[in-house]
Order: sequence, then structure tokens, then C-alpha cells
Amino acid sequence: MKRVFLIVLDSCGCGEMPDAEKFGDRGVNTIKRISRSPYFRAENMLSLGLGNIPGLEFLGKNASPLGAVARLAEKSAGKDTTIGHWEISGVISEKPLPVYPNGFPEEVLSEFSRQTGRGVLCNKPYSGTQVLKDYGEEHLKTGDLIVYTSADSVFQIAAHEEIVPPEQLYEYCRIARAILKGGHGVGRVIARPFKGTCADDFYRTPNRHDFSLEPPAETVLDAVKSSGKTVYAIGKINDIFAGKGITEYVYTSGNTEGIELTLKALDKDFEGLCFTNLVDFDMLYGHRRDIDGYAKAFAEFDERLGEFISKMRADDILMISADHGCDPGYLESTDHTREYTPLVIYGKSVAPACFGTRRTFADIAATVADWLGVDYECEGESLLKLRAAEEKLCAAAVEARKKAYAPYSGYSVGAALLCADGSVYTGCNIENASFTPTVCAERTAVFKAVSEGKRSFSMIAVAGGNKEKVDGAFPPCGVCRQVLAEFCPPDFPVLLVTGEKSFKKYSLSELLPESFGPSFMQ
Ligand code: THU
Repeated sequence: MKRVFLIVLDSCGCGEMPDAEKFGDRGVNTIKRISRSPYFRAENMLSLGLGNIPGLEFLGKNASPLGAVARLAEKSAGKDTTIGHWEISGVISEKPLPVYPNGFPEEVLSEFSRQTGRGVLCNKPYSGTQVLKDYGEEHLKTGDLIVYTSADSVFQIAAHEEIVPPEQLYEYCRIARAILKGGHGVGRVIARPFKGTCADDFYRTPNRHDFSLEPPAETVLDAVKSSGKTVYAIGKINDIFAGKGITEYVYTSGNTEGIELTLKALDKDFEGLCFTNLVDFDMLYGHRRDIDGYAKAFAEFDERLGEFISKMRADDILMISADHGCDPGYLESTDHTREYTPLVIYGKSVAPACFGTRRTFADIAATVADWLGVDYECEGESLLKLRAAEEKLCAAAVEARKKAYAPYSGYSVGAALLCADGSVYTGCNIENASFTPTVCAERTAVFKAVSEGKRSFSMIAVAGGNKEKVDGAFPPCGVCRQVLAEFCPPDFPVLLVTGEKSFKKYSLSELLPESFGPSFMQ
């Protein structure tokens, strides 16, 4: 019975993305910031390999981690909770959710008034309590609805419970939800019922209700659900997905209860996904710029993680990640921060690894689908499949090495090049009595592929040395690096086989920084 436990540490980013400045963020790194607090603890996360994630090495690298890790870039143009979770689940958003610093446009409000039969007051970003003081009495007199927004993508409707009963207010929210689609697709429409008699004693009742935007495309949650498996949502996951693709859900009062319920879910018998959001990191500590509070919450999670791991079954996979950053030491704003997120995967059948920096959070969706055996197409790549492909390519390089013609040096080298279409070209070094015509294994592989019409490559593995068995990395020479740079991007993975089933992974730009290439010849 295969299960995935996916835990989102809300806002636990691990360093600014290259485009952070466009989002108003500079020098942000949520995990780095909290790691300097005396309350920060991460023993369990470090044992899984947290410190092996690019940019988090200062936490201490672990030579024999128990888990597989990666740093994930956010491909979507956003840094909010909704877009972050959708991308984790396989859906990329080209545009951020709309915000309305000057209020909603006339076309939206006139349609809203036409369908509700009520006028609109306020229509500005406003504090939820102040808006009642400033517009509550006029609402009582006229019955017009108080519509306001915030820095977030929200359309909020406040109404007195005696003028507009909550059920009626929810109906108005559904009307707004139906209007606010496409370009005006706000993240949430929120009902804000209140009571009281005058400006001084108006108060909000607990009948608040959120009407979220449905994900714009099929997520891995939908795919898991339609395959007949369980999708159990803990915390605000159900709201983020507007209930889509979820079979069971429970809301929580915060991190402690979220962790507790996820631990309990381990004891349940089900096949599928348990998806938890731990919101306190963001809501209580990130936005409030409380570094020590954030660090304590992280320490609490880390401590309970030990318990979690010890209870996991053989067919369970745990994935821990985040949806964006919210650096509590960044004082230019109290907003989220545009960051990479960490991904930590642990399971008895998951080989420890570091996948470097990945292009999208959607690798999580692809990995979930892969592990659960569910069909789901997205822009992400399954890291379990990737690991298997890496091992296969290394084995092909070791095999190719057997063909090496190296009577003069005694060093035999093999290379295996994976093309984007899935085909593999191998090569070996071919020496010559006059020495200089000698060609390396990597170039043999690249030239074989190129001469067969291949131009797009996914990774290369290299194995070499003068012993029968590979015993340590045999890195490509400068000329081979230059040849690779002609056809491959800077983040092209180069796997150096170090032994039986072991390899070291570099990006081409690590091996050849600032390389000369085709772009200089245009
Ligand atoms: N060699 C390779 O095949 N690839 C490299 O990138 C480094 C060197 C071969 C060439 C020669 O046959 C032997 O290793 C010793 O230099």
C-alpha cells in the first residue's frame, strides 16, 4: 500500500531566486535567517540531508545523508500560497493572481450589484476591523455591501448578520466568485459577517467563509483521486484547492495540531496522498518578522520529525518542502519573499541523493504520481525516475569503458550521453601511436550523437581510470568540457562515476564557468 506524506512548511524558503528583485526582494533567505537564532534546531532535517541542498551548505554538509534532497525553483510568476501549492501539485501559473491596490474596476462591481441587487461601499484595500468602523453604520442604513481588499489577491464582503444573514452573504460570495474569473480571478472571495450596533462595537463573527479559486488545470491531486486513491488534506490545503481533488480533509488550529494529525494519519490504512500545510511559520512568524518564533517552530517540527520517521512503513515516502519564502529578517516589507524552496525526500526505498537545483516545484507532483503509479502529465520530472535514469547512464558509461582503445596510457574511459529523446550514445577513448590524434570518450559519444542528428541532450556520465574497477572520479578534460558547452546548457548535469553504484554530480557551468560558446558568435 503505497503512501506519500507531503508536508509543506509554509514559507520556509531557502534563498532568493535570480528574479527576486522583480518581486521587491533582495538578499532574502528564510532558512538562513532563522538558522542564526539560538532557538534553531534541525538535527533530523540535517540527518536527511538539508545541509546538502545548494545554498544551505553552511548548515553543515552530511556525507552520508538518509534522504534525497534538491533545491526547487518556482517556475510560476508569483510568491503566494495558492500559486506555490498549485505548482507543487503540477500546475504552473504564468501570471500572479491579480491584486487591486486601487479597488475593483467598475465592470466587476456593476455586474456584482446587478446580480445581488445591492450597492457597494468602500472598494479599497482596508483593515478588516477599521472597515467596520468607517462603513458599518452606512451599511446598516442603506443595506449596501462593504467590499474591500488587501495586499493579497482577495475580494472581501462584510455585512451585518441582521441585514444579510450569513447564508445570504455566502450566496453573494458565490456570485462574486462566478464573476471573478480569468483576468480577475482573485485567489479568494471571503465572507466577513459582523454584528454589533454602532461603529464602536461592531465585531466580526466566526462565520467567516473562504471561496477559493479552483486550480486552472488538473493537479496531481485530481489524478490521485480519480485513480480511486485517497487524498487526505490537513490544514488549509482544502481551501487552497477549493476542495478539488480531495477525498477527505481536516482543518487545524496551527502547526502543533497539523503535525499531530499527520502523525495520526500514519496509523491509518490508505493508499494515496496525505497533504499537510503547516501555516504557523508564515502566518505567525514570517509576516510578523519574528525570527526567534520562526526558529522555535522549526525546532518543534524537527523534533516531531524523528517520531514521524520511526513510524513510517516500508512503502511510505515523506516529502518536505515549502510554497514560497517569508524571510522574517527582511524589513523592507512584511510580505512573502521570492525564494527557492528546499525539498527533502525520505523513504526506505529512496536512495540518498542530491539533485541540485531543479526547475520547478512540479517535480513534487511528478514524483508523487510516479510513486503512487498514477498517470499524470506536468512540467515536473519524477526524481525517483531521474535517479533510476542516472544510475542506468552510469552503468552504460562503465560498460562503454570496456571498449576503450588505450594501449599507450593504460587509462580507459567510457562515456554515456543521454539525448532529450531518450536515446543513449556511448563512447570510449581511442588512442593513437602518434598520440595527438587521440580522442576522448566524451567527445566520441557527443560526436556519434551529433552525427546521427541529435542536438538536444539531458545528461552525460563518465567513468575512467587505470584500474579494472572504477575507483574515483575521472573528470572530462578541458577540450571535452568545451565541446559539451557547444551543445549543452550551463545546468547540464555531468555525472562522474566514482565506484560501484556511486557517482558525483556537477553542472557543466561548475566544470567550465564563464565558458565561451555559440552565444558569442551571433
Ligand atoms: N581521456 C578521456 O577519454 N576523456 C577525458 O576527458 C580525459 C582523458 C582519455 C584520453 C587518453 O586516452 C587517456 O584518457 C589519458 O589521457
